Amino acid sequence: MTLPEARAGVQDVDLSESTVFVTGATSGIGRETALALARLGATVHIHGRDEEDGLSVRDDLRDLGSESVFYRADFASRSAVRDLAADVAGRVDELDVLVNNAGAHFDEGHLVWDGAEATFAVNHLAPFVLTHDLREVLAADGRVVTTASEVHRRASASEFENVQSVEDYDGFDAYARSKLANVMFTAGLARRLDDQTANCFHPGFVPGSGLWRNAPLLVRAGTRLAYVLPAALTGGVTDTSRSAARNAVYLAASPDVADVTGAYFDDCERTPPSSAASDVLAQRDLWAKSEELAGVRWS
Ligand SMILES: NC(=O)c1ccc[n+]([C@@H]2O[C@H](COP(=O)([O-])OP(=O)(O)OC[C@H]3O[C@@H](n4cnc5c(N)ncnc54)[C@H](OP(=O)(O)O)[C@@H]3O)[C@@H](O)[C@H]2O)c1
Repeated sequence: MTLPEARAGVQDVDLSESTVFVTGATSGIGRETALALARLGATVHIHGRDEEDGLSVRDDLRDLGSESVFYRADFASRSAVRDLAADVAGRVDELDVLVNNAGAHFDEGHLVWDGAEATFAVNHLAPFVLTHDLREVLAADGRVVTTASEVHRRASASEFENVQSVEDYDGFDAYARSKLANVMFTAGLARRLDDQTANCFHPGFVPGSGLWRNAPLLVRAGTRLAYVLPAALTGGVTDTSRSAARNAVYLAASPDVADVTGAYFDDCERTPPSSAASDVLAQRDLWAKSEELAGVRWS
């Protein structure tokens, strides 16, 4: 199978001077992104919750020559995110790439972070805080790459009014809303960074990843079927975690995007996000709400 770095056209890029941190790298797209960036020579540190999986990926990275560290943190806890950031900032001299990839879908609604809906907190508030806290170690030409989704097009900015409640909760709507937040965060972040860049991407539809582990039975059965069916039968719309990782690897490593910021990518191509995601006033409102819920203030 073609490696993600070859699919992204960056197989000849030398990252041996680079330090990368990938969240949600114990499985799926994050794991494949971490391995690809290590094959390009980067020192890749990784995060996740599952200790056994994390240590196994760390060992794979070390076999590739990367002096990797595995960090464990549950993004359902704000203090865990802040501790993680402090730990990473204390151990790396400089971070060249931060890949905000960890993400989850919850079938049942619940509140975390002193009153924020869990999908919004894990998928959006956590990278919001992590990026804020790691800014001090982000290299002058550093890159922040965030895993968003085409599903963001289903959501509207008015839905952010409901992120402190789980009344009438719908897991897929909450997931789409959190992915809209990823795209809007990227645009707002790009305006606040100096020479660093912030971009996000849709990885493709990856039925074989762990994302669907908490989905309703019917969705789990459907994604399982999409996973096992040959690509010819699914019309080629499915990706593997390895092929999906090309997008993160491209944004993390390609010289073609060294000066591109605030953009959304699909299949390594810059693509306009939804009109809701591009609404600058809504982006500002979301930023202010995120600061309030996260308890951080960007200068
Ligand atoms: N799969 C798709 O079709 C698809 C499509 C569009 C976008 N995406 C996005 O791609 C990203 C990666 O997902 P994936 O498909 O590769 O799924 P995955 O295999 O389930 O990977 C998700 C990663 O996020 C971590 N994670 C989940 N909940 C967490 C929490 N509460 N705190 C900290 N870490 C947590 C997981 O860690 P542990 O396993 O150690 O708990 C795992 O490393 C997500 O942002 C997802 O929204 C996926």
